[in-house]
Amino acid sequence: MDTRAVYPGSFDPVTNGHIDLIQRSAALFDNVLVAILRNTDKTPFFSVEERMEMLQDAIRGIKNVSVTSFEGLLVDFVERIGASVIIRGIRAISDYEYELQMALMNRRLSSKVETVFMLPAESYSFLSSRLVKEIAQLGGSIRGLVPEDVERRLGRKLRIR
Ligand code: PNS
Repeated sequence: MDTRAVYPGSFDPVTNGHIDLIQRSAALFDNVLVAILRNTDKTPFFSVEERMEMLQDAIRGIKNVSVTSFEGLLVDFVERIGASVIIRGIRAISDYEYELQMALMNRRLSSKVETVFMLPAESYSFLSSRLVKEIAQLGGSIRGLVPEDVERRLGRKLRIR
């Protein structure tokens, strides 16, 4: 049986830490679907369409990975597309509490879906989309933290703001 996994998140924007986790997941599961949350409550830096383009560019060449977006409950989406695994990255112990709460709540909502926690490379354990945006906004270098295309787009967006 093919195991289909969903890697959900905001990806605003995708970082090299996310990409590292996607590569690791692609080696473990038959099929990995990166799913961007369409969240009407939050004002994102990049639109869902822009985030989708950046992710698509980042995963080019990994043949069992694709990108989509979703709204509503994650477990409903996971079940609807016939997946059985949710992938979440844990960088440090500080991530664990929130991730544990979400994983257990998702398990309560659907006993058919399992959450798998994965660790990115240590070199990305301090990396987050929020910090990348903050550093870029304050004029610091984000080279090596995000794909070059993301770096260019961040620069362009900040110049026209
Ligand atoms: O990258 P993020 O912002 O940490 O991702 C959080 C995400 C998208 C995984 C989470 O907010 C989510 O699953 N939202 C969908 C709504 C939902 O199912 N909420 C109940 C979670 S227990």
